[in-house]
Amino acid sequence: MINIRIPATSANLGAGFDALGLALTYYNYVDMEEYDGICIESADNTDIPRDESNMVYDSAKTLYDICGKSFKGLHIVQTNNIPMARGLGSSSACIIAGLAGANRLMGEPLTLDETVDLAAQIEGHPDNTAPALLGGIVTAVFDGKRVHWVKQEVYTTLKFVVAVPDQELKTEKARACLPKEVSHKDAVYNLSRAALFSASLLTGKYENLRTAVDDRLHQPYRIELIPHAKEVFDTAYSLGAYAAYISGAGSSLMMIVDDKNTFFTGKFRFALDKAGLRSWKIHELHIDNEGTKITNVGN
Ligand code: HSE
Repeated sequence: MINIRIPATSANLGAGFDALGLALTYYNYVDMEEYDGICIESADNTDIPRDESNMVYDSAKTLYDICGKSFKGLHIVQTNNIPMARGLGSSSACIIAGLAGANRLMGEPLTLDETVDLAAQIEGHPDNTAPALLGGIVTAVFDGKRVHWVKQEVYTTLKFVVAVPDQELKTEKARACLPKEVSHKDAVYNLSRAALFSASLLTGKYENLRTAVDDRLHQPYRIELIPHAKEVFDTAYSLGAYAAYISGAGSSLMMIVDDKNTFFTGKFRFALDKAGLRSWKIHELHIDNEGTKITNVGN
């Protein structure tokens, strides 16, 4: 039996739509072993598919098929901390768990690059799958087959405070509301900010982050699908956040805050409660630089 630890991810980082993502210190765990048949369990009673449609199982089976290895089935035990359909990479975590787990069980037939490529082929874009596997902040271009990527480890004095509403937002719905075409001006608006984000995060020029997370490709459309998002952003900025953006396709909102802003999270919780947003969950996280980790847990 192996145990796979997969980090949550935050994609887009504002302007870097489908290109930028980072891994966070918030994890799903999957135990996996070869088995005669399908046995899928939830360690925390999350409602997950127990048949072939389970994404961890399906991704693992895909890899067995690609490698031409006979496949009898799997025993999988999932611990799902990452909330589903909230823009924190829960589906990418399942895909990576399946691929990385199957790869280990078969004796590592796939290279890291091949795993990054296959995960993006399954998900359709690389900005959650790549950081979930690699950790750190990942810049990625998916050319339809291959992912051209750079992972950078980040050691900052920043915390990432995520506000998770009750309301799910499925990625398909959040992508369907986007325009098919954008103007040249808006393209420049975004590419300049996406570049500014990476450079500023990595060099410690955090005062640029508020400008850097602004975008015209997805957030103006998606914010309409997330009730109270504007209020939450205003609250975060009034408490001194460097930046606030929609995490991935939403519905979670991410605040980037200096670690020295000690009381941010407590004050933020208090303000949200006062605004009637008691049901929103708040987690204070940091960047995970390790990515997916696999350990042996006996037979
Ligand atoms: N880049 C993707 C999007 C992330 O914004 O739709 C969601 O998986």
